[in-house]
Amino acid sequence: MITDIHRARERALADIAAARSLDELARVDTATVGKRSQLAELKAQLGSLADLDERRAAGRQLNDAVTALTGALAQRRVELAAAEQAQQVENERLDLTEFVRPAQRGKPHLVTQAWERLEDVFVGLGFQVAEGPEVETDWHNFEALNMGVTHPARSDFDTLFVDHPGAEAGRTMLRTHTSPVQIRTMLAGTPPIYIVAPGRVFRRDTPDATHMPVFHQIEGLVVDRDITLADLAGTIEAFTQVFFGAGFTSRLRPSYFPFTEPSGEFDIRTPAGDWLELGGCGMVHPNVLRAGGIDPAEWSGFAFGFGIDRMAKERHEVGDLREMFTGDVRFAEQF
Ligand code: DAH
Repeated sequence: MITDIHRARERALADIAAARSLDELARVDTATVGKRSQLAELKAQLGSLADLDERRAAGRQLNDAVTALTGALAQRRVELAAAEQAQQVENERLDLTEFVRPAQRGKPHLVTQAWERLEDVFVGLGFQVAEGPEVETDWHNFEALNMGVTHPARSDFDTLFVDHPGAEAGRTMLRTHTSPVQIRTMLAGTPPIYIVAPGRVFRRDTPDATHMPVFHQIEGLVVDRDITLADLAGTIEAFTQVFFGAGFTSRLRPSYFPFTEPSGEFDIRTPAGDWLELGGCGMVHPNVLRAGGIDPAEWSGFAFGFGIDRMAKERHEVGDLREMFTGDVRFAEQF
């Protein structure tokens, strides 16, 4: 019996060493230490050994064999897993070289393309391009936009706060929208103001098909004498036709934002007749003008803001926003 155990053990060790894949190893596993294996069969025969010493010795040999085989299986599993992973990396490396041809030139990311086109269109309509910091103060991001510390609208923005030495806790954040650039622009200059401010914004959101924690918006601000809602509607309509094409039109729907009064949301209508929601807008609230150092009795204005990524997603029929940020050349190359 001891000889049988040794033979079974040696054969099993050879089979384990010879396994070329994890699948094959799984079969070897069943065959060597499984319920129907030769070792299991020998174990079942132990009871029929009459000699007690012989039975003990055989039992010990069997246990040793099972321990040795289990160890050998585990080790081989690690080796094969590493090899399969290396193979997969190798395959993908080869796969990608097909796409990264040396003579090929790169191009801006889909979002950058949309961002730059938006700038072009607004510059064509007489706007200037403004910028603001991505790390903002509570005052610029909320307070000056008519959202005091206790304003319920603050809870619409899943804010990411920034801890840094010297700053009061909870007063510095990654900007949740591009609207604080309105305040910075008003404080930095005097009306008339005609600006757009594209940029990166941040919210504590879980990524899914339509949300990313880091995304892009473009803000618009106009402050001049006798600016009315008609100017806002006309600007949105002109923008829609230039950016999307002559077959498109726009509409405003009543809505609410703390920094505009009245507020609206604007939609665009595709030539096929579908309405797509694009962004928010309204007449700049007098408190916001005041925070920007502008007298609301003398000046009035409108503002708007919308998501660049989401617009690019609709325009190019990208099914899932996350696709745009995985960095896969095969995706980027299509646009
Ligand atoms: N800041 C708003 C947001 O992120 C969008 C917005 C709405 C901007 C209305 C505006 C506006 O300038 O007037 O949800």
